[in-house]
Amino acid sequence: MRTVKIFDSTLRDGEQSPGFSMSAKEKIKMARALELLGADVIEAGFPAASPGDFDSVAGIASSLSGSSTVAALARLNTNDIDLARDALKGAKKSRIHVFIATSDIHLEYKLHINREELIERVKTFVAYAAGFTDDLEFSAEDATRSDLEFLIEVYRTAVKAGATIINVPDTVGYASPEDMARIIKRIRSDEMLKEIPISVHCHNDLGMAVANSLEAVRLGADQVECTVNGIGERAGNAALEEVVMNLKVRGDYYDADTNINTKRIITTSKLLSMITGVRVQPNKAITGANAFAHEAGIHQHGVMENRATYEVMTPESVGLTENVIVLGKHSGRHAFEEKLQEMGLSLPKERLDTIFADFKLLADKKKVITDKDIEALLKNSISEIPRIYRLDRYIISSSNMLSNTCCIRLKKNGEPIPEGTAMGGGPIDAAFNAINLATGLDLTLAEYKIEAVTGGADAQGAVSVRIRKDDKAYKGYGVDPNIFEASIKAYLSAINNMLYQLEQSGSAQGRSGGQ
Ligand code: KIV
Ligand code: ZN
Repeated sequence: MRTVKIFDSTLRDGEQSPGFSMSAKEKIKMARALELLGADVIEAGFPAASPGDFDSVAGIASSLSGSSTVAALARLNTNDIDLARDALKGAKKSRIHVFIATSDIHLEYKLHINREELIERVKTFVAYAAGFTDDLEFSAEDATRSDLEFLIEVYRTAVKAGATIINVPDTVGYASPEDMARIIKRIRSDEMLKEIPISVHCHNDLGMAVANSLEAVRLGADQVECTVNGIGERAGNAALEEVVMNLKVRGDYYDADTNINTKRIITTSKLLSMITGVRVQPNKAITGANAFAHEAGIHQHGVMENRATYEVMTPESVGLTENVIVLGKHSGRHAFEEKLQEMGLSLPKERLDTIFADFKLLADKKKVITDKDIEALLKNSISEIPRIYRLDRYIISSSNMLSNTCCIRLKKNGEPIPEGTAMGGGPIDAAFNAINLATGLDLTLAEYKIEAVTGGADAQGAVSVRIRKDDKAYKGYGVDPNIFEASIKAYLSAINNMLYQLEQSGSAQGRSGGQ
């Protein structure tokens, strides 16, 4: 059976899409988890996009152990290629990934060059990049809408100039499996390209990304580019977990497998959701909450008799287990740390102390702590954003006849600041108004969501908010069995996130914001 390489682009194509942006620290955490997952190549970013992207790629490059190759994207020009090369300097194994569009529509309306000029560009800059690495990927953007014979000529030029792997992107998710098959077969039938490793990179605009990737594998593609939970531009990229589990479960058909440790799939997917704050749709294959849930009585009966009646793979094979950690008064820390390790997380000691203290507080309020409770607690801590403002104490009065009011006292950098007291349309509105008064910040609430972390009367409420200041939005997250407190924590977490980001971007306003 062949081994197909998994090229993960969660941190590049995935992160590029709205709502999925990650800080440099979060990207390093995710990259470590992807390495533990067994991704052969991790595309860390696009260094020329911004200094922040350059730093993230450099941070990831020097943080990984060397079992995964770190790739950086570059357009075909010397500046992009130089930046990719420099950002990858600290990596044990690295790849430069260059791309240029090859379809006539891109040539005419985006690049404003003709086919001959494109061939010249490929010749010159692929050779330039090849001077810095012996692992060089060449992508023909919009390959599936390109003239096939011209595409072959471009690939030949790239390989001649030093590309060691060629990529066939279905950039706009237009292809059918048959189209993919035709392209792969044509490349393989070419005398010069018949041995070159082929990669595929499929987008999901028509919901075909996984099917197209798998058809390419069936016809001999050596590498699949994909993202965790299928995140990515517009409708996303091929979902890593779906590609991998198709190959695992239907090895009989594809005659191919991957190096992915499938038991780490759920953990990695959850980490991504925790970092980005975006939940996976419940009915999503493999990683959705309902992917292994059997609701109908007839199905439940069948599964109890023999799981294979209604399951083509076991939940355990993707790492889905419902552990219940019961916290003893003095015995919790070890179990807690083990849980973090299982999640692929290593947090600095001070951060661990804080979360563990939160964990103990929760254990006082809630009898049974499940994995989901721990994940909810961790969500805020993963980003390692300093908690400048913290809740000290509050009183909320909620009424259907009198005003809703909140009086709140916060601590700023550990010291209590004067209370804020305010009314509001509801108790949570009153609390947020009181926080605005106490901090002196003029903020608008752009989004508020609440859901129960688990079932049961003592379930924690998980609140996600987005606040807006000067046309920029900042997300926050809070969790507590008391939904008022969860809301206050979420709002404070958004404020801390905002102050951190403003500080990072060197904004004087951020440094002096508040009292
Ligand atoms: O979709 C695409 O064409 C890309 C390339 C840069 C590989 O993401
Ligand atoms: Zn893409």
